[in-house]
Amino acid sequence: MNPEERAASLFQESFGAAPAAVASAPGRVNLIGEHVDYHGGHVLPVATRMRTAVAVGPGDGRLRAVSATGSDVDAAWPPTPLGNWSDYPAGVAALAGGPWRDVGLRLAVASDVPMGSGLSSSAALEVATARALVAWTGRSASGHDLADVAWRAETGFVGMPCGRMDQLASALAGPGSALLINCRTLETRDVPFALDLVVVDSGEAHTLRGSAYAERRREGEAALERLRAQLPALEFLVDIPPARLAALLPLLEPPLDRRVKHVVNENQRTLLAARALEAGDQASFGTLVNQSHDSLRDLYECSTPRLDAIVMAARATSGVLGARLVGAGWGGSALVVARPGSGAAVASALGGIWLNAEG
Ligand code: GLA
Repeated sequence: MNPEERAASLFQESFGAAPAAVASAPGRVNLIGEHVDYHGGHVLPVATRMRTAVAVGPGDGRLRAVSATGSDVDAAWPPTPLGNWSDYPAGVAALAGGPWRDVGLRLAVASDVPMGSGLSSSAALEVATARALVAWTGRSASGHDLADVAWRAETGFVGMPCGRMDQLASALAGPGSALLINCRTLETRDVPFALDLVVVDSGEAHTLRGSAYAERRREGEAALERLRAQLPALEFLVDIPPARLAALLPLLEPPLDRRVKHVVNENQRTLLAARALEAGDQASFGTLVNQSHDSLRDLYECSTPRLDAIVMAARATSGVLGARLVGAGWGGSALVVARPGSGAAVASALGGIWLNAEG
């Protein structure tokens, strides 16, 4: 059974009624463009073949949420953040208008997206919920609308100060191509993508991730403030012309200079990577992926020794074009980009998941 069928049958078993609607959304893996979305930069995610499905239906004046993993929630309605997985769907329902507002919500979740491994299981859950709720009302919504309500749930209800990449990727990325997203304008462009992808989970807990991520965001704001003394019109860090970077960095005390250098160069790398894919230049693409990791490790300082070790082992594996940490960092997974046809061997050599594999 696929996740949608599993979510629908879990709903039926748990609540003794058929759901009003069922929908699903994929996780994402970002090829390149890390920690630039909240600076108005470019990112290049692909959707995972693994999806999360949510079945929804009218409640009994409460929030009742069940998941295939067995961690069920029964809470008051309207919802308030509980600090568990149900905050993602509840946050979306709290922000979207529909019949659940008055009667409460029942929902069942089934997912193939591994949790906590940097594949954005939370965005998949939010976007799938938004899609299911819209289907229930019979209205239609664009991918951008779904991503927007999902992002507002994550930042405003769950309380994670993330950028817009994960929700846009989950709502808009399709099979067979990567999605180049301009996070300032939210414009997107499909970029052909046919390389093999392997994800290797570091197995490291993410306990520091929320606070370290928020700290990086504060550092970015502080750097922007400082640089506006010289460049009053500077809106985002990615607006700094790369040619002026060397002259501007001495205005910033460490570590702000390192953070800004990463952001400006990573945004450029993402644009170059999209161009390399469009030109079929696999080797240049792999080099940019490697440079992204080195910058995240040395300048953005969001890697871990375990992630670095996985990346180094990957780079020494036959068929690998490039490897880097993926997502926010501080644990989670490494992404390995491999030549077409070598994904299965690379996954087995590194103990990872081959993302392009069928079934
Ligand atoms: C997390 C956030 C995204 C993005 C990445 C880093 O996944 O949710 O918005 O900032 O980290 O690129």
